[in-house]
Amino acid sequence: MIDIIEIIDETQKMNITDEILHKLPNWFGIESSIQEYMKDVRDKIFYAAIFHGKVIGFICLRHVNPFTAELFLVGILEEFHRQGIGCMLIGAAEEYLTKNEYKFFMVKTVGDSSDDLYYARTRAFYRNVGFFPLDEFKEIWNEQNPCLIMVKTLS
Ligand SMILES: CC(C)(COP(=O)(O)OP(=O)(O)OC[C@H]1O[C@@H](n2cnc3c(N)ncnc32)[C@H](O)[C@@H]1OP(=O)(O)O)[C@@H](O)C(=O)NCCC(=O)NCCS
Repeated sequence: MIDIIEIIDETQKMNITDEILHKLPNWFGIESSIQEYMKDVRDKIFYAAIFHGKVIGFICLRHVNPFTAELFLVGILEEFHRQGIGCMLIGAAEEYLTKNEYKFFMVKTVGDSSDDLYYARTRAFYRNVGFFPLDEFKEIWNEQNPCLIMVKTLS
């Protein structure tokens, strides 16, 4: 059985981010980016997925403005993919966002002009949970990592 719990403690948020992202090298292969993420998650809403007392995934949300929140980061250990845990984390996030009257939920990810097969899976997940592609920008990250902005409305 999987539990989704909110993490408040900043050190705990950093440690979970550290552990999970280092175990997902196909998506998070750049050490300096992981270090940045570890700092950036501290002041953000954060939920962890727990299985038998062990953290197996998390989701982190960024306040953009009173109407829009961003899915800042999500990661689940690979052996637990395709078991509905991503959907559970999105569910917890959206419960928080609707309670706090956000209208839009956005996410930035690698767009489909990239041939990265791992991010193709990530986009399939985002589509499945209701995000639609808005536009792709090569200027936000770089030519090799075209940044696709996806969005969904919250009700
Ligand atoms: C993206 C991620 C969070 C999805 O979590 P998950 O627990 O595997 O997703 P779910 O099991 O809830 O999937 C829900 C639906 O999304 C779609 N989906 C998820 N993964 C998919 C894949 N690899 N290929 C195609 N569709 C996929 C499916 O429709 C799936 O439903 P189904 O399994 O009944 O067909 C997880 O794969 C992950 O941690 N990926 C690596 C990190 C990452 O991509 N982070 C985002 C970048 S910031």
